[in-house]
Amino acid sequence: MKAVTINQYGSASVLHYTDIEQPRIKPEQMLVKVQASSVNPVDWKIRSGQLQLLTGYNFPLVLGFDVAGTVVEVGAGVTRFKAGDEIYAYLDSIPGGAYAEYAAVSERAACLLPNNMTYEQAAAVPLAATTALQALRDLGLIQSGHQVLINGSSGGVGTFAVQIAKALGAEVTTVCSTKNLELMTSLGADHVIDYTSTDITQDTRQYDIILDAVGKQSFSSCQAILKPNGIYVNTLPMPDTLVQGCLTFFLPGKKAKLVIAQSNSKDLGFLKELIEAGKMRSLIQQTYPLSEVATAHTTSEQGRVIGKLVITMSH
Ligand SMILES: NC(=O)c1ccc[n+]([C@@H]2O[C@H](COP(=O)([O-])OP(=O)(O)OC[C@H]3O[C@@H](n4cnc5c(N)ncnc54)[C@H](OP(=O)(O)O)[C@@H]3O)[C@@H](O)[C@H]2O)c1
Repeated sequence: MKAVTINQYGSASVLHYTDIEQPRIKPEQMLVKVQASSVNPVDWKIRSGQLQLLTGYNFPLVLGFDVAGTVVEVGAGVTRFKAGDEIYAYLDSIPGGAYAEYAAVSERAACLLPNNMTYEQAAAVPLAATTALQALRDLGLIQSGHQVLINGSSGGVGTFAVQIAKALGAEVTTVCSTKNLELMTSLGADHVIDYTSTDITQDTRQYDIILDAVGKQSFSSCQAILKPNGIYVNTLPMPDTLVQGCLTFFLPGKKAKLVIAQSNSKDLGFLKELIEAGKMRSLIQQTYPLSEVATAHTTSEQGRVIGKLVITMSH
C-alpha cells in the first residue's frame, strides 16, 4: 500500500511517499481503508523529534492520528463494527499510522461516520475536536450560561471549541487576528476580539473558562480576566501552566489546567451527534493528496492555518 513514512527525525523533507506492507491487526482492532486523514501540529512535532522519548527509534514510522474510511476486516474481539461500516477515528497508538491507504484502528478509538459529512470533512474532526471537547467539558467544567474565552479560535482546536462551547450553551468570546473576525461570527461567536489591536488581558469582562488553544497567553497573564472560581485551560505544557496547575490544584479559587487529549469512541459519538444536529462543522483550509503530506506539514508549521488541512487517498 502507499504510505508516508519517516526513517529519521527532521524537517518535512524526511517524509517519504512510499510502498509498505498493510498493517496487521490485533483482535481488538479493525483494518480500515483510509479515505482521508488530517494534519495536526503534533504530527510535525513528532516528525521533528520533539517527542522522541515517546515515539522511539523503531523506524520507519507512519504518522497521523485522524482517520475517516471504511472497515475492511474486523479482529476477533471487535463487537460494534463490521466490514463495510464507514467510520471515523482518533488513533490511540503513538505515533498514529493514518498517513497510509490502510490503518489498524482500535474499536475503542472509532465511531460510525457522521451521516452528513464527507470522509474529508470527518477526517478533520477527531483529534482537534476531541481536544476541544475534553478541554471545555472535562477540565473547564463548562455549564450553560458560562462566559467562555477562546484564544486561538481560528485554528484546528479553536474552530471546534467555539462551536462546542456554543452548543453547550456558553456565551463565547473568540480571539483571533483581523482576517478571521468574520469567520468567528459565522461560527456563532457572541463577541470577537482582534488580538492584533487589543490586549485580551486588559479586557473588562471576566470569564468562567479561558481556553488558550494555541498556548500564547499564560495563566498568570490571564488572572485579572478570570472570575474568582474561573478555570484556565492550555493545550501546551508551558512552564507557567505546569507550576500554576500544581499550585492551584490544592488551593480554592482560580485553576490552571493542561489538556492532554485522549482518544475515546464515546467522545467521537458525542461529536457525531453535534455534527448531525447541525451544531458543528469542519472548516478545511486545503486538501492535499497523500503524496503531498510534506507540503501540508510545512504549511501547518507556519502556525497560520484556518481550521484544518486534510489529506486524501486516491486508492
Ligand atoms: N495537549 C493536547 O492534547 C493537544 C491537542 C491538540 C493540539 N494541541 C496543541 O495545541 C496547539 C494548537 O493546535 P491547533 O491544531 O489548533 O493548531 P493550528 O490549527 O495550527 O493553529 C493555527 C491558528 O493559530 C492562530 N494563532 C497563531 N498565533 C496566535 C496568537 N498569538 N493568538 C491567537 N491565535 C493565534 C492562527 O490564527 P492567526 O493566523 O489569525 O494568528 C491559526 O488560525 C498546537 O500547539 C498543538 O500541538 C495540544
